[in-house]
Amino acid sequence: PLSLLVVAVLAYLLGSVPFGIVMARLFGLGDLRKIGSGNIGATNVLRTGNKPAALLTLLGDAGKGGAAVLLARALVGEDAAQLAGLMAFLGHCFPVFLRFRGGKGVATFLGTLLALSWPLGVAACLTWLAAAAAFRMSSLAALIAAVAAPVFALWLVPQAVVFYIALAALIFYRHAANIRRILNGEEPRIGLK
Ligand code: G3P
Repeated sequence: PLSLLVVAVLAYLLGSVPFGIVMARLFGLGDLRKIGSGNIGATNVLRTGNKPAALLTLLGDAGKGGAAVLLARALVGEDAAQLAGLMAFLGHCFPVFLRFRGGKGVATFLGTLLALSWPLGVAACLTWLAAAAAFRMSSLAALIAAVAAPVFALWLVPQAVVFYIALAALIFYRHAANIRRILNGEEPRIGLK
């Protein structure tokens, strides 16, 4: 119905807001797409050395996914909540404001999961943190968390497993260059303090 279409469009537009680009500009860090991996996410903002800007990017990109879900749930219902999460995630990866050349969706994925099912979101975030601590690669941590999410979902929200498999598949697709670098031993490490 019309309400689902409205939710989809608004969630997509919200997801399209590139907080990394916004923060890099606000903090005077230059054009993020010419730094490090060229990605618009918090990991690449962190490569500028500006931790507050990276944290705000993480919170913004995760928050827009969470906000889209919570707003859709409150205004329309649970079906709309899942759709809103998917559309915010697609907005981040393919943003209308950046000619559809967006990010890899990890923060938005985690924010969406936290809002759709907080135990699943917490499990995915802890997986990311554990993998990042073990391997010191943001991308590898994201890929491991993306695989873990549908596995946790089997147990926590079995009716939605296919949805989380789809999100995980998109995350892998967006990390094609990272996967190549990981396999070649060329992926840069992150310095977790
Ligand atoms: O969140 C994106 C991360 O998984 C990889 O980012 O900049 O290392 O390609 P980057």
